[in-house]
Amino acid sequence: MGKFVEMDHPLIQHKLTMIRQKNVGTKDFRALVDEIAMLMTYEASRDLQLEDVVIETPVATTTKMQLAGKKLAVVPILRAGLGMVDGIVQLIPAAKIGHIGMYRDEETLEPVEYFIKLPEDIDQRDVLLVDPMLATGGSAKDAISALKKRGAKNIKLITLVSAPEGVKAVQDAHPDVDIYTGSLDDSLNENGYIVPGLGDAGDRLFGTM
Ligand code: PRP
Ligand code: URA
Repeated sequence: MGKFVEMDHPLIQHKLTMIRQKNVGTKDFRALVDEIAMLMTYEASRDLQLEDVVIETPVATTTKMQLAGKKLAVVPILRAGLGMVDGIVQLIPAAKIGHIGMYRDEETLEPVEYFIKLPEDIDQRDVLLVDPMLATGGSAKDAISALKKRGAKNIKLITLVSAPEGVKAVQDAHPDVDIYTGSLDDSLNENGYIVPGLGDAGDRLFGTM
């Protein structure tokens, strides 16, 4: 089974508490999602491979560590995942960006795929799949399947808020995928919204309420 990590860093928890509040407007919501994504990347990149490199400081020659250069791709699930990309790319500027367009049918809650564009060498890249919300898990499951179909092997899913139902659905369908989340919330309501959650992440990010 892949890892399941609920990130308990105080800065992540504090900022998540802020964006959950219904009176936080689009500008602040967007800035905070960006910041949380950056903080989560710090945790989720802990196992990046390092290699030795010989360097010269002004004082001596020494062997130190640098990133081994394993290629990464950041793949947001549209729309809401887009809000997490800038924060991640600030820490990993060489990452390529793919996009997976999906929306949930409001009646059935089933994901509908409408766009996929990935780096051509996605099969050689480690993938950070990002979406603020993991609710029923349908969107994440299908996005992971779409990535795997194109050859992606090492996939991490990063979400801000997750429902237990969504975590289970992803783990059952894709036991090899690590899940990093800011909060494992209580449940889903009858409309498929995470409780207590933060509402509709895409609408709050883009001001389309
Ligand atoms: C939201 C969210 C996830 C999905 C989660 O997107 O960003 O992609 O719902 O729900 P699930 O786990 O039940 O599939 P939405 O469909 O609202 O599209 P949007 O990002 O364009 O607003
Ligand atoms: N999508 C959202 O944006 N919020 C939820 O709570 C569930 C799905």
